[in-house]
Amino acid sequence: MSTTSLPGHDVEPDGLPTPPASVFGRVHLGYLVIETQRMTDWRRFGVDAVGMHADELDRDTLRFRMDEHACRFLLERGPAEDVTTIGWQLDDHDTFDRVIDRVRGAGVPTAEGTAEQAARRGVERLLRFPGPKGITQEVFTRPVLDEAPPVMRTSRFVTGEGGMGHVALTSTNPAGLRGYYDTLFDARLSDYIDETISGVILKIRFLRVNERHHSIAVASTQGVRLDPIRTRVQHLNVQVAELDDMVGAYQRIKELGFGVALAVGQHTNDRELSFYAQTPSGFEWEVGWNPLVVDEKTWEPVTHRGISVWGHTPVGQTVIDKLNQFRLGLGSLIREEEVVLPLAGAGIEDYVREVAPSAGRAQPGRPGFTGLG
Ligand SMILES: [Fe+2]
Repeated sequence: MSTTSLPGHDVEPDGLPTPPASVFGRVHLGYLVIETQRMTDWRRFGVDAVGMHADELDRDTLRFRMDEHACRFLLERGPAEDVTTIGWQLDDHDTFDRVIDRVRGAGVPTAEGTAEQAARRGVERLLRFPGPKGITQEVFTRPVLDEAPPVMRTSRFVTGEGGMGHVALTSTNPAGLRGYYDTLFDARLSDYIDETISGVILKIRFLRVNERHHSIAVASTQGVRLDPIRTRVQHLNVQVAELDDMVGAYQRIKELGFGVALAVGQHTNDRELSFYAQTPSGFEWEVGWNPLVVDEKTWEPVTHRGISVWGHTPVGQTVIDKLNQFRLGLGSLIREEEVVLPLAGAGIEDYVREVAPSAGRAQPGRPGFTGLG
């Protein structure tokens, strides 16, 4: 994760100049903390189905490894059945200081992680602060590496420069979420997807903080703001190195009796081939292969119609599931979503050029285009 910089003028790894003090490209999804009571199911899911390495720290703490990092997933016993924390790896102390200055400068409180918290997450030192939807954000620079290779049913997971995958959130305040990650990490918009599901228009914004097409995806319904998902995270994604790894994970998940939410398909925007499994905590887990890598010199954000080129068909969703989702959605109308206003600011609204229906995709957002909020 080496970057170069000239005095008073930052240069990205690809050689393109960025605004002074930008941290874009120096931020990588590092680990996730999941709170669950279902440790045994999670161990089967993570090790036997997805194909990761597991280390049991004690009866109430389980870790999954995907690479040389000692921790990529920390599972702690607790009632949430959800992702509670997102850990971000920053390239160096300079980047760390810039990010923390932004948080503190906005008046948002930060807390130094305890030695025990750092040890459990496999990092040398971390700082914590509030994030959107009540998901704590943590930043660190130095992961603890485990020299012993991970013992896995997957040949390799793709991590490195692009981080360990991505996280997808549903939100009733997508502009606030974009504002938050823009202030914090200089996140860039990769593209939009508009999808109509059961007559409801879903708009998804894809944000990147490095060469990975997106580290955060933010989905919302258009018009009436509904959040039909119980968990704070709708799904998370890990990327496997080989097509056989993805097929193997799919077969094992089905054989072991875990639910498949969406069958294998290919996404329109990052072209990733993937499927979605149901985790023991209820949110979804996407296993993907071969997404494109963003070239900053040529990338232009567009709007895609529909999440998939092919496949990703829902598996086994019942009428009861749909009714339950609708009930949760109605609840979101009276539930206030946490946005960390000092960092979200006024938020960033969506702008896309009006496009002829036959064109299939819109052009890059520029002033004068129609705001879709
Ligand atoms: Fe995804």
